[in-house]
Amino acid sequence: MRLQAILCLFLLLIFELSSCTHLRVIPGSTVDLPCLSIQTEFTEAAIIWKFKGENITAQSPGTTKIKKDGLYLTISPVTAANEGEYVCLVRDANMEMIRSYDITVDASVRYTMKAFKGSTIQLLCNFPLSSQVEANALWFKETGLGERTQLNTGDDSTDGKRRVEQLYPLDHDQTIVIRDIVIEDSGIYTCESAEGEKLSTVYIDVEVRPTSAPYSCGITTPWEPCQDENSRTGEPMLQESMGEFSMKLYSYLRQSQPSGNLLFSPISISGALSHLLLGARDDTRRAIERAVCVPHDFHCVHFQMRKLREKLASSLQMASQIFYNPQMNLSESFTNQSIQFYEAEPVKLLETSEESTQMINSWVANKTNNKIKDLVDSVSPSTQLILLNAVSFSGQWKVKFQQKPKKGLFTKLDGDMVKVPLLYHNKYLATMAYVIELKAQVARFALTGDSSLYILLPRSNTATDLQQVEEKMTDTAVHQMIEQMKITPPQSVEVTLPQIKLDVQPDMNILIKKLGLSSLFEGANLCGLYSEDRLVLDDAKHRAFLALTEQGVEAGAVTTVSFSRSFPSFSALRPFIMLLWSDQANVPLFIGRVTDP
Ligand SMILES: *[C@@H]1O[C@H](CO)[C@@H](O)[C@H](O)[C@H]1NC(C)=O
Ligand SMILES: *[C@@H]1O[C@H](CO)[C@@H](O)[C@H](O)[C@H]1NC(C)=O
Ligand SMILES: *[C@@H]1O[C@H](CO)[C@@H](O)[C@H](O)[C@H]1NC(C)=O
Ligand SMILES: *[C@@H]1O[C@H](CO)[C@@H](O)[C@H](O)[C@H]1NC(C)=O
Repeated sequence: MRLQAILCLFLLLIFELSSCTHLRVIPGSTVDLPCLSIQTEFTEAAIIWKFKGENITAQSPGTTKIKKDGLYLTISPVTAANEGEYVCLVRDANMEMIRSYDITVDASVRYTMKAFKGSTIQLLCNFPLSSQVEANALWFKETGLGERTQLNTGDDSTDGKRRVEQLYPLDHDQTIVIRDIVIEDSGIYTCESAEGEKLSTVYIDVEVRPTSAPYSCGITTPWEPCQDENSRTGEPMLQESMGEFSMKLYSYLRQSQPSGNLLFSPISISGALSHLLLGARDDTRRAIERAVCVPHDFHCVHFQMRKLREKLASSLQMASQIFYNPQMNLSESFTNQSIQFYEAEPVKLLETSEESTQMINSWVANKTNNKIKDLVDSVSPSTQLILLNAVSFSGQWKVKFQQKPKKGLFTKLDGDMVKVPLLYHNKYLATMAYVIELKAQVARFALTGDSSLYILLPRSNTATDLQQVEEKMTDTAVHQMIEQMKITPPQSVEVTLPQIKLDVQPDMNILIKKLGLSSLFEGANLCGLYSEDRLVLDDAKHRAFLALTEQGVEAGAVTTVSFSRSFPSFSALRPFIMLLWSDQANVPLFIGRVTDP
């Protein structure tokens, strides 16, 4: 009997020797390595475990533990130090048996996803936030037995939508999207840095949808009425959402563009998305609510948006509009509510691209006092829906600047200097303070229209100091800064600013995806707007223009204040951040960064 068993095991031995087991394990997990496949026959045999040639004993330090007299080796939790070869040796008077494991510790994140044939899925992958992104990650599909093929995620932006697409090129977020999933897409995908560091592994399991029901909209009823128009909480709620949304947008934009000039109007983007929210239902509604930071049960959001727009009307020209394909029948209640809350009747696109382009551009020019003239270049005939937003603000200083005849030198991030026309005043009445939480010197200039311009000056002209301020600019920190500046008394300051004129068009399509709304581009539930089919958002544009000239309305008012001592000075002749704040509505109107005036 005994002989037979040993023979068996000899066969087993040969088999197991030739198949060193490769195991890929994730850090933090628990792994049990069995030594023998047949456990009972070797009760008196000695079992030795070795790791990288060294005996493992019960007293070994670290995370490996020998269990059941050596029948198992348990590693818990797995760390990078556990990588290597493990050998289990069984010895008795008659034989020796060796079993080995080769363990690779895989730090990448793993996801398992189920997807239906025909759907669109996102494969997640992120660079660590601490790293600099110099090249996109590489995506591979494993094709079995160590073979793999690289996916073409395409940096070349072609007109049509690619099936596999990198959502945010050169961003920390290296997520890709695969559209129109087929059964053959099932499998293991890995995302690696250019240096070969594994970042994530995604298992995809594609299934055929059980029954393909014909498309039908769920809820098509109009947006629910605002029950309490006089509520005291509605206005602060919108202000809070706006503040949170604004700083979220700024952090996305500054990351995608770490060094250039920036300008956007959070209130205008939020206005456009809220307008779209009016027609969104179910999952799309919730996604937009999350994106603009409003709670799900905030029925009065549109009513409050209207109040806000009315409040700001004297200083800010804000226009939001929806253009749609003439073959679509828009819901009448949506049209009515658009007029009611957004003063905008959705407009049908015209027959040719040229006509539509011209219509859109002249509408924008009209709404922005001709400050922005050509927002769109062309309109594709297949366009179903265009969401558009234009904003224009012409601020005037409460105190007039003296225009210095000479130009000054602005030091850029790289240390290069450029000549710029200056705004100068030797004793300007402004509020100035060092804001510790932001690590920035901040000056507040009063503007007409009950608004203020805040200029945040980092400690030096370097990118590091600029980034340090930007990283600290959370919603809370900005509100604290505004409170601090409100209680700081104004003083006479020698002010030197570059003349600012910015006209920036941030990439709204990327921004929309960053806001968690990439589903809008794939097929959104806009049943409150159109109920016959899923809608696809084609394009979203935002363009912001801001000009501050030397003109003031209270010319010379400050010159009556006289001090005999020398004045503190504030000179923004190096990269700075600016915040145009409505004191009246307590919301940011524009946020920008000037690195190259
Ligand atoms: C490992 O353990 C075996 C059995 O206890 C012993 O014979 C051997 O000398 C040990 N090897 C080392 C390197 O300690
Ligand atoms: C729009 O409505 C009209 C009238 O109700 C109808 O005849 C037409 O088929 C509808 N269009 C589409 C694209 O469904
Ligand atoms: C939309 O407004 C028009 C004109 O005020 C009105 O006749 C119509 O009944 C309204 N439709 C809906 C669905 O509210
Ligand atoms: C915009 O259009 C309206 C109506 O046609 C007109 O009264 C107004 O003067 C226009 N504004 C500009 C800046 O062109």
